[in-house]
Amino acid sequence: MDLHIRRYQPTDLETIKRLTLEAFEGVSIDRNIEDEFGPINNRDWRWRKERHIDFDVQRDADGVFVAEIDGQVVGYITTFRDRDAGIGLIPNLAVDAGQRGHGIGRQLIQHALNNFREEGLTHAKIETLDQNDVGQGLYPSLGFREVARQIHYCMALGQMKDDDPATG
Ligand SMILES: CC(C)(COP(=O)(O)OP(=O)(O)OC[C@H]1O[C@@H](n2cnc3c(N)ncnc32)[C@H](O)[C@@H]1OP(=O)(O)O)[C@@H](O)C(=O)NCCC(=O)NCCS
Repeated sequence: MDLHIRRYQPTDLETIKRLTLEAFEGVSIDRNIEDEFGPINNRDWRWRKERHIDFDVQRDADGVFVAEIDGQVVGYITTFRDRDAGIGLIPNLAVDAGQRGHGIGRQLIQHALNNFREEGLTHAKIETLDQNDVGQGLYPSLGFREVARQIHYCMALGQMKDDDPATG
C-alpha cells in the first residue's frame, strides 16, 4: 500500500465531505439527535455534519491533511492549531470504510501530531463518543490520556409558556 499524506487543497472538499457522511453514520452527535427528534428545520444530520467540515476548513485549512493511495483520497484529518493555548485540536478524522484497519487513521493522527510539534505546540486534544469503540482504543494507544467525560442533551422547544419565570 503506497500511502501518501499531504496538505488539504480546496479540490478535496467534496471528497472529504463524502468520507465524513459515510464514516459518521453511527458515531455522530448530530445523527443521535436525529434518531431522537427527526430532522430539524428541514435539515438532516448530514447537512449539519457536512457543515462541520466547512467550519474546520475555514478555521485552519493548513491544518487539514488528506491520505492518498494511488492518487485517491481515502482519509483525512482536520486540526486547529491553537497557538495562543499551545494546544492542537483534532475535531474530525475519517478513513474510507474499505481501507480501515491498515493503520491509515493512526498515520493521519501521527502526521497531525508531528505538525503540531513543528508549529511549537506542546499538547494535543481529541474527543470521541462513548459509542465509538475504535476511538477509545486508538487514541489511548497513541498516548492520549482520558481527562473528562461529557453528556450531550437536546430538547425540542415548544410554545412559550405563560408561567415560565424566565420570561416573566
Ligand atoms: C477512527 C478511524 C478514522 C480509524 O481509521 P483506521 O485507518 O481504521 O485506523 P487504524 O487502522 O490506524 O487503527 C484502528 C485501530 O482501532 C482498532 N479497532 C478497530 N475496530 C475496533 C473496535 N471495534 N473496537 C476497538 N478497537 C478497534 C484496530 O485494531 C486498530 O488498532 P491497532 O492499530 O492497535 O491494531 C476509522 O475507523 C473511521 O473512519 N471511523 C469512523 C469515523 C470516526 O469514528 N472518526 C473518529 C471520530 S472520534
